[in-house]
Amino acid sequence: MANHWQEEEMPGQGRGSQAQSWNQGGSSGQGVSGRGSQGELIWQNRIQKQMRDAEQNEPDGALTAGYKADPREIVALLTRAQASEWSSFLQYWHHYFMASDIHSAELRDIFKEHAEDEYEHARLFGERIQQLGGVPCDKPEDIARLSPMPTEYNHDLRSMMEADLVGERATIDFYDEIIRTCGFDDNVTRKIFEDVIEEEAHHADDFATLLFAYDGSTGKQIESIHEEIESLAKGAGQQPRMTRRAS
Ligand SMILES: [Fe+2]
Ligand SMILES: [Fe+2]
Repeated sequence: MANHWQEEEMPGQGRGSQAQSWNQGGSSGQGVSGRGSQGELIWQNRIQKQMRDAEQNEPDGALTAGYKADPREIVALLTRAQASEWSSFLQYWHHYFMASDIHSAELRDIFKEHAEDEYEHARLFGERIQQLGGVPCDKPEDIARLSPMPTEYNHDLRSMMEADLVGERATIDFYDEIIRTCGFDDNVTRKIFEDVIEEEAHHADDFATLLFAYDGSTGKQIESIHEEIESLAKGAGQQPRMTRRAS
């Protein structure tokens, strides 16, 4: 890869004038503009080194010389996170089918929407594992062995939502730890988990709102939405009350 860019004029600089003084390190002791030129020299050298590094080990792709984390540790964390996502996907998918038996169309949509989110999270983590030179966790036996959270196949609506809420809350803490581990040593993985954890927070809040709804006018906890749906299904004639959880 030819480094033609290194010979190009820098913005606002004539070729062979100031650009030449950077290369000669001749800008010290020149006041503010001299310090600025020194800074430019440092960055020029760094960028040149990064270009040389980039030309080495090209098959490593996204795993560059500047990567500061231990890729084996990050891949191990990503693998467990991906196993957890597949487990969550299966759990929500199962709940989606089970909810159809008890006339819970609204909850059924939530289960399906969450299942689709977890599927996308598993895909994102698998892609990052592959970028770091690892093998994505896609085998059922590996998912069962490595997922920090077991898949819960509860069959009544309340226990399904409770299991989902607990799983989401545990996932948030797990991903928080991964984000702290990545710090600024693996910015790409950190960014992926920052985006995913935001969706997990929404998932957790969805179920907390459904399970622990409060009546805004009295401040008292009301019966949860699933009980209202069930009473509606029994012909009680009430419309479900979608109140927001008290903060
Ligand atoms: Fe997820
Ligand atoms: Fe989730």
